[in-house]
Amino acid sequence: MNKSPDTQRMEKIVSLCKRRGFIFQSSEIYGGLNGVWDYGPLGVELKRNLKNYWWRVMVHERDDIVGMDGSILTHPAVLKASGHVDTFTDPMVDCRLTQRRFRADQVPGQSGTIYKFDQARDAIPPESAFEILAINWAKELVPAGESVSRKDSIRLALLVSDHRKFNLPTPKVDPSSVFKLFIEFADKMSAQPDISKDDVENFRKAYVSGPAASGDSIRLLQRKGEDKATILKRADAFYQLRNILIPMLSPSTEEVTDSRDFSPENGAELTPPRPFNLMFRTSMGATETEDSIAYLRPETAQAIFVQFKNILEVSRKKLPFGIAQIGKAFRNEINPRNFTFRSREFEQMELEYFCRAEEGMKLLDYWLGERLKFYENIGIGRDGLHVKTVSDEERAFYSKGTYDIEFDFPFGRQELEGVAYRTDYDLLQHQKASGKSLDYFDEETKQRFVPHVVEPSAGVDRAVLALICEAYSEDEAPDEKGKMETRIVLRFHPRMAPIKCAVFPLLKNKEHLVAKAKEIVDLLRPHMNVFYDESGAIGRRYRRQDEIGTPFGVTVDFETLGEKDADLRDTVTLRDRDSMKQERVLVKDLPGILVSRIT
Ligand code: GAP
Repeated sequence: MNKSPDTQRMEKIVSLCKRRGFIFQSSEIYGGLNGVWDYGPLGVELKRNLKNYWWRVMVHERDDIVGMDGSILTHPAVLKASGHVDTFTDPMVDCRLTQRRFRADQVPGQSGTIYKFDQARDAIPPESAFEILAINWAKELVPAGESVSRKDSIRLALLVSDHRKFNLPTPKVDPSSVFKLFIEFADKMSAQPDISKDDVENFRKAYVSGPAASGDSIRLLQRKGEDKATILKRADAFYQLRNILIPMLSPSTEEVTDSRDFSPENGAELTPPRPFNLMFRTSMGATETEDSIAYLRPETAQAIFVQFKNILEVSRKKLPFGIAQIGKAFRNEINPRNFTFRSREFEQMELEYFCRAEEGMKLLDYWLGERLKFYENIGIGRDGLHVKTVSDEERAFYSKGTYDIEFDFPFGRQELEGVAYRTDYDLLQHQKASGKSLDYFDEETKQRFVPHVVEPSAGVDRAVLALICEAYSEDEAPDEKGKMETRIVLRFHPRMAPIKCAVFPLLKNKEHLVAKAKEIVDLLRPHMNVFYDESGAIGRRYRRQDEIGTPFGVTVDFETLGEKDADLRDTVTLRDRDSMKQERVLVKDLPGILVSRIT
């Protein structure tokens, strides 16, 4: 069953990530770059541990996979052949009021009353009536040097009214009282002996049937808890953007349930869906022309297909074999959201595993199994992972089978990795477009054919986020005085933890304790990432490490120096983050004990 979203937990995780230096908003001091993130000192270690482990199990521990590192800037012909130039799009809708953009398939259904505004006319005189008012009737009354615009129409009409003693009341803000003012004003003017009847008639005509109207219509949804005034305010804003200063509105209404035509933010009508290409385009060289276009790659996979022949030749691999790559990918996501989950710049870990057509479906299941094992080996429990078989309708047309590996993030169950059997589509496309053969010669059968491919494609940033979400926990631990307090712990698998072991001298002002602790740091450093900390009470130091997921803590005390008991000389306490249990171990055994527990 899908767990319900836990916003509070997610907020705590985001705050911890910033507070402890895992992840920061990119360009934060300039207000931030939306959908782009920077990894801090701990985030980068976590990310490296993940990528290194992926590389180890996917490349180093296997004979059938080699690696590559392709360029980010990509020739447009590559992405034309792959289909990205023409079809790598999301259906996009815009809010007609704020121009905010949403992915059409992510707009929730909403119910309520639709107010339909077909057009609006302006209670303020249009340009032609304003000129008669300002130039013929109010010119002498405006202080010298002051310029007036159509916006000042009400003030000008009141100035004339005062001067000629019409006694017209100052209108309220509502459009009908403004309208009334100008109608009464025209009546009063027609009775003035020195004002030409034609002039008044022209003013009246321009005002009542003049062009100050917007033919644009909009529908606004009144949702539960919203009053009519809110809707009218939104309609005002819509028409003001169309130069109607005080719109006169007469909506019709209709009830609707579960409609996806309205903005989730303000209930304003959305535009019909339009395809929006997600690729970032750039220009290479000094002049920007159609020929200078290059793209930032939207996936790492294409470089693998394009280099297939070169790598086949140099590696002399036989089918089935794979090419692995880790690297940045870029997508101009319409709605980057859920922290790093949907970003515009992210990293992928992709394997293209080439095979014979008849092996494809079996290898699809094999790779699903391998990838599930991988996540379990980095500490993401099997019960938090879910396999979705992508349906025929949702699958890319060329794929014969696709699984999504999903994870229960605090914001809901979402895709972590896709495992897809892409058939021979990609190689055939590139072979056709480039005119270069991308086939394989089978020595045994003496046959030439274009291999099929199975692709496990994982997101580094999503896996990092899943690791942090899975690891985050709160429990109770005694403080310095024995009082129980909440402890935040990142229960990372030791293999993934950014820092593996923290070393503490019991007291920082005892030279011998400090020297011994530093010796231990030097002993452990060749084997793992170690952290030395001498400041604050020992309990506080443990808490700081718990919060960033350091699995082991070593404390150097007076026993280590042999001051209390000669038998304990050269032993330290080794504390386990999760159980908080401490054991006494020999310093010389530390590297062996820790390395075995980390791996
Ligand atoms: N080569 C196949 C491919 O790129 P995909 O499902 O579009 O397939 C693969 O992407 C993985 O890349 C996803 O499962 C996800 O982990 C990661 N990913 C895709 N778009 C992402 C984004 N905007 N932000 C972060 N990760 C993303």
